[in-house]
Amino acid sequence: MPNKRNDLGLTRALVLPDMMKPARLLLLTGSLLILSSCSKKQETGIPVGQFTSLTGAQATFGQSNDRGVQLAVEEINASGGVLGQPLRIITKDNQSKPGETSTVVRELITRNKVVALIGEVASGRSLEAAPIAQRSGIPMISPASTNEKVTEVGDHIFRVCFIDPFQGTVCAKFARNNLGATKAGILTDVSKDYSMGLTKSFREEFTKQGGVITGEQSYSGGDKDFNAQLTAIKADNPQVIFLPAYYTEAPLIIRQARQLGITAPFVGGDGWDSPELIEVGGPSVEGCYFSNHFSEQSTDPNVVAFVDACRKKYKADPDAMVALGYDSVRLLADAMKRAGTTDPAKVTAALAATKDFPGVTGKITLDAHRNPTKPAVMLQVKNGKFAYVETIAP
Ligand code: PHE
Repeated sequence: MPNKRNDLGLTRALVLPDMMKPARLLLLTGSLLILSSCSKKQETGIPVGQFTSLTGAQATFGQSNDRGVQLAVEEINASGGVLGQPLRIITKDNQSKPGETSTVVRELITRNKVVALIGEVASGRSLEAAPIAQRSGIPMISPASTNEKVTEVGDHIFRVCFIDPFQGTVCAKFARNNLGATKAGILTDVSKDYSMGLTKSFREEFTKQGGVITGEQSYSGGDKDFNAQLTAIKADNPQVIFLPAYYTEAPLIIRQARQLGITAPFVGGDGWDSPELIEVGGPSVEGCYFSNHFSEQSTDPNVVAFVDACRKKYKADPDAMVALGYDSVRLLADAMKRAGTTDPAKVTAALAATKDFPGVTGKITLDAHRNPTKPAVMLQVKNGKFAYVETIAP
């Protein structure tokens, strides 16, 4: 963040009264000139803002997402950039904190003059950013926020991932038909739009498929003790437990469930996707299932090339957020090329017209609500790894 430090230093110098003496003023003007020419030099390329959770509670979401974004930018710039100019990504960390996203997004728009925004992973934080992007007329592409409300904020808000009414349905059908469960319990994080949305669609679909919800319990993100809720769920004796949690709580919950003697499999959504699910959950998460956007085990040649590039650059396999970050930037570059300009209004129109874009997370065609219709994959924790089970078409 050297930019930020410069800006702050400059502000401080300007308010010092002794700086206003003529000699100092000359000096100050000189350094201002130097500073502005330096920053001009840094400022070549098309400014695109990324806001994400690089640190804090959900740091693995942001770090994975950033990997995909940086890889895409590197590849695009290596092959000549967009409309003859390189992309210049300006990344701001919201530290996973509520309230911080609006600050950094305003900064990206007013100070960094970005022409488009990439973010966020978590639905709650995309919902914080979207009204600001919409009011400013800057197109925003959420790589991974699945809550239905995100793109409803307005016609400048897009996403490259499927939405929770679909994801919840996938989980319910899987629990009912593949696992043969007729009785399901649910444990919801009431502090997350994401979790609440998934519970709603799971409940609807599971019931529609002839299943019964035996009981619903809730908690708040950051909680550590789930014994009361799990004891209540256990008393209902469900065959499967739906847990639309983030990886920050899912493994703790499942561990405590196993200690209480609950043996039923848990089923979750994309929020489980982090190496920490297995690191923290250990043997207790074995055999559990979750829906996701991507499997690195796919044989699609686009995916194989992408997985290879990730292994080369990061010495690690990509998770869903790496893939979605990658697709977001590539879709944005494609829209700029189709628009023939980086003008935000024209890029917004080009994004809205996206058809059959070949993403590594599937083919992306945006509907009238700026959402793609894409398949989901079901994964199972097996021998400490995420194993591909099946692909479920919309
Ligand atoms: N879909 C989640 C949300 O909307 C975020 C997420 C996406 C988490 C992909 C993991 C993988 O909050």
